[in-house]
Amino acid sequence: MLNDLKAQPKDKILMLMEMFKEDPREVKVDLGVGVYKTPEGVTPIMRAIKTAEKQLWEVETTKSYTGLAGDPGFTGGMRDLVLGDAVPADRVAAAATPGGTGAVRQAFDLARMANPDVTVWVSQPTWPNHTSILKHMGVPMREYRYFDDATCAVDFDGMMSDLQDVAKGDVVLLHGCCHNPTGANLTLPEFQRVAELLNDKGALPMVDIAYQGFGDGLDADAAGVRHIVSNCPEALVAASCSKNFGIYRERAGVLMAVQEDASKTPVAQGTLNHINRQNFSFPPDHGARLVSMILADDALRADWMAELEDMRTGMLTLREQLAEELRRLTGSDRFGFIAQHRGMFSRLGATTAQVDEMREKHGIYMVGDSRINVAGLNKDTVPLLARAMVDVGV
Ligand code: LMR
Repeated sequence: MLNDLKAQPKDKILMLMEMFKEDPREVKVDLGVGVYKTPEGVTPIMRAIKTAEKQLWEVETTKSYTGLAGDPGFTGGMRDLVLGDAVPADRVAAAATPGGTGAVRQAFDLARMANPDVTVWVSQPTWPNHTSILKHMGVPMREYRYFDDATCAVDFDGMMSDLQDVAKGDVVLLHGCCHNPTGANLTLPEFQRVAELLNDKGALPMVDIAYQGFGDGLDADAAGVRHIVSNCPEALVAASCSKNFGIYRERAGVLMAVQEDASKTPVAQGTLNHINRQNFSFPPDHGARLVSMILADDALRADWMAELEDMRTGMLTLREQLAEELRRLTGSDRFGFIAQHRGMFSRLGATTAQVDEMREKHGIYMVGDSRINVAGLNKDTVPLLARAMVDVGV
């Protein structure tokens, strides 16, 4: 029977990681997978995580199971970090999940339980794993226009016009900040207009927020999702700790279901617990516990925020350096959008052939749609990328 298995399409981002590893050239630049790196190319363990790990080693007395929804200190801490006081806590059901991807998967499951005929709307483009998971689950999907290839900015008119077709009971997936793969983000007034439209349509907003703190700051990056939860009766929010706590392999994430009425929260909570039980039982705890320790301790939290802020401003500086270098080389402002984009990614607007040429000729690796991980650059590789872009005619 297992002989009947068919080869599955490989994930483009993960495939690129392999190709990069196998490239024997000395000068090569990895701008593929979305992992933060220092200028030396290291993905560091954040200071506060190290400290919390030491403390945890001293005080942890058991590795027995947590609850199905994970540690309440974690889910409560994450609720406050992401949603602030935008919605009363008793309207929010929350469960820990294996990373942000786990939260996304659980959200789709929950949506399908609530509405077996659900269609999920995704931005065109979106993180490839969004569409891949939906296809795997057999959940119908539709796309809304999002990115204007000519300006490399959000095509908000196109988005609003496509969302006119959203039906009652559909889910509309939005990126909370730092849009992956484009780096082009909705403004707060645009989030407000989307919220109004979804309320008119009776659709459920789902916000995936995987890069809070990487764009304009922890609170600024959460402004859109906070507006959604305070202005839409219901919402799903999938949040990740992989990037902003740098604990990628620990798999810490949370799914929150915001209910219209607090009396309905226990049923939503029970459903989240149930879905966890069916899919993997108890969520991983180690990373989640470190996050809850950091969020609950003033000194650890301040240190974490300071380091995150350094990471964020470092990425902004790289954006400015790249835009400036391209201005110098091309004598035009047409790459100014790179400094306007926010987060870890920018879509450069190169064709697949140009992306291939940059990889083959210059050893620069980016995703086929010309998404770069800005954090993969440093002051020495910025000029290499800029020259390669000009050389291949981007
Ligand atoms: C990315 O988009 O590169 C990251 O979210 C990593 C991943 O799992 O794809």
